[in-house]
Amino acid sequence: MDITALYQLSYGLYVTGVKTPSGYGGCVVDAVAQVSAGERPVIAVGSMKNNFTNERIKAEKEFTLSVLAGNADPFIIANFGFQSARNADKWVNAPHTVRDGLPILNDAVSYVRLRVNDLKELATHTLFLCDVTDAWKGRNGNRPLIYGDYQRDMKDAAMAAFKAFLATRD
Ligand SMILES: Cc1cc2nc3c(=O)[nH]c(=O)nc-3n(C[C@H](O)[C@H](O)[C@H](O)COP(=O)(O)O)c2cc1C
Repeated sequence: MDITALYQLSYGLYVTGVKTPSGYGGCVVDAVAQVSAGERPVIAVGSMKNNFTNERIKAEKEFTLSVLAGNADPFIIANFGFQSARNADKWVNAPHTVRDGLPILNDAVSYVRLRVNDLKELATHTLFLCDVTDAWKGRNGNRPLIYGDYQRDMKDAAMAAFKAFLATRD
């Protein structure tokens, strides 16, 4: 098996927003797909079992997805993808709005609000099957960020931005 064949599958990049006992959490996810359309669209989200976000989605059953733009600030990806909301307030570092009790990134292409309808535990991830309870466009008129483009063009900048961020806290 040539596992690199899987690199040809396409994904976007998203930031989830979920409630925590002390505020809000969430993380970067690429494992997102609309798996049914029509009147009741369903979106599948793959969430790592040991992430705080996973725990909070199971507890709250509701979360948002902010669709990142191709010109997203690499720090936003570092902030939400390189640290855990178990020990950091990620949203304090990111311009955001709280809509109907859940946070969304101001600089996103669009948004969906999801309610967990079903889940399946996989080896490392939980697959959440979610109903779309709201959806709306954002202010960022750019094209959505493609995961492969992030890997190729933005990953180093995200790592540098996170390093600089950590240095300001030393
Ligand atoms: C580019 C990128 C893609 C990611 N994709 C996923 C994903 O699809 N599902 C997931 O659960 N975590 C994904 N992660 C990892 C989480 O964002 C990361 O583990 C985060 O620190 C978890 O934070 P939390 O503990 O606050 O939930 C991704 C991270 C990056 C940087």
